[in-house]
Amino acid sequence: MEEPVITVDGVVKRFGRDVRALDGLSLTIPAGVIYGLLGPNGAGKTTLIRILATLLPADAGVVRVAGFDVRRDAEAVRARIGLAGQYAAIDNHLTGRENTEMVGRLYGLSRRDARTRTATVLERIGLIDVADRRVKTYSGGMRRRIDLAACLVGRPQVLFLDEPTTGVDPASRRELWELIRDLVGGGTTVVLTTQYLEEADHLAHRIAVINRGRLGSEGTTQQLKDRTGGAVLELSIPDTQHAAAIESLRHVTAVPASYDRQRGALVLPATDGVATLREALRALDTAAITPTDVGLHKPSLDDVFLTLTGADHTVGPGRPFAAVADTGAHEGSETS
Ligand SMILES: Nc1ncnc2c1ncn2[C@@H]1O[C@H](COP(=O)(O)OP(=O)(O)OP(=O)(O)O)[C@@H](O)[C@H]1O
Ligand SMILES: [Mg+2]
Repeated sequence: MEEPVITVDGVVKRFGRDVRALDGLSLTIPAGVIYGLLGPNGAGKTTLIRILATLLPADAGVVRVAGFDVRRDAEAVRARIGLAGQYAAIDNHLTGRENTEMVGRLYGLSRRDARTRTATVLERIGLIDVADRRVKTYSGGMRRRIDLAACLVGRPQVLFLDEPTTGVDPASRRELWELIRDLVGGGTTVVLTTQYLEEADHLAHRIAVINRGRLGSEGTTQQLKDRTGGAVLELSIPDTQHAAAIESLRHVTAVPASYDRQRGALVLPATDGVATLREALRALDTAAITPTDVGLHKPSLDDVFLTLTGADHTVGPGRPFAAVADTGAHEGSETS
């Protein structure tokens, strides 16, 4: 395999005395891929991105980006990366074109190159028609895009996107996906975090699931799904018996059952398919618990996330990751 473009080795980051945002995290990212960082709120994803982008020093561990150590050669790293998302540095009083050209100049482009490159990027990102309006008149989705345009103008070798499509309407989200894919076609490596599992599933070649500052699991989306065991068992159990049910199922699978609030069911990997199902029902029966509904299905990335992180237990109310159920556009329809 090619030399990885990013290596993270044993990284620790503490905030104050109590918070270990990253707790000995290691991973490598190959060049030319879209790499997804997933994990519940507070898992450490943004902290990792900030360390990779030289904005935050790690307390321990070694991080290399594009061949340079982020601590010793921060300047060299900065010259080769772009960062979009939660840290937009866009001036609202300037136009989209002015903002993008300015960033191009900061990247060391000549005035003329900055101008032509800006035109190309704005065209590609679908903002050429509003290029000469001040950014303060832009909609939220346009702002996201101008932020991304500013990152792209310098042709970064590695692009970091922290939740690039949060708050972007479904149609624009799909355009952004296309754009991100194009970039990778042009040789850029993209590292992104997302709240949308559907996005990771469509976009990312590889995914790292981060949980409490550690690497939970890593691989291609298919590998992660396979690791969930090929099938997922869903058991609807009366509310008052959840704890008892999880306890009684503990010996059935290596990964404990998780409660998925949205589906109103306990979810667990059914490594042995129907055999797991039978064993689970027997265990529940012994505990005098009768499920109101039972289902066995192929794992989605949602299931992977749930079974790998038990996310519902660690993040409190609500679902950590909203499936984009409101888009009306699902699997197979992204190439519209
Ligand atoms: N500047 C800071 N000061 C104190 N604690 C921090 C700071 N930044 C992050 N943390 C803590 O570090 C942990 C990891 O936060 P981080 O922002 O990296 O999570 P995340 O995975 O990006 O979450 P989200 O999905 O909500 O964006 C959290 O417990 C958070 O409260
Ligand atoms: Mg974050």
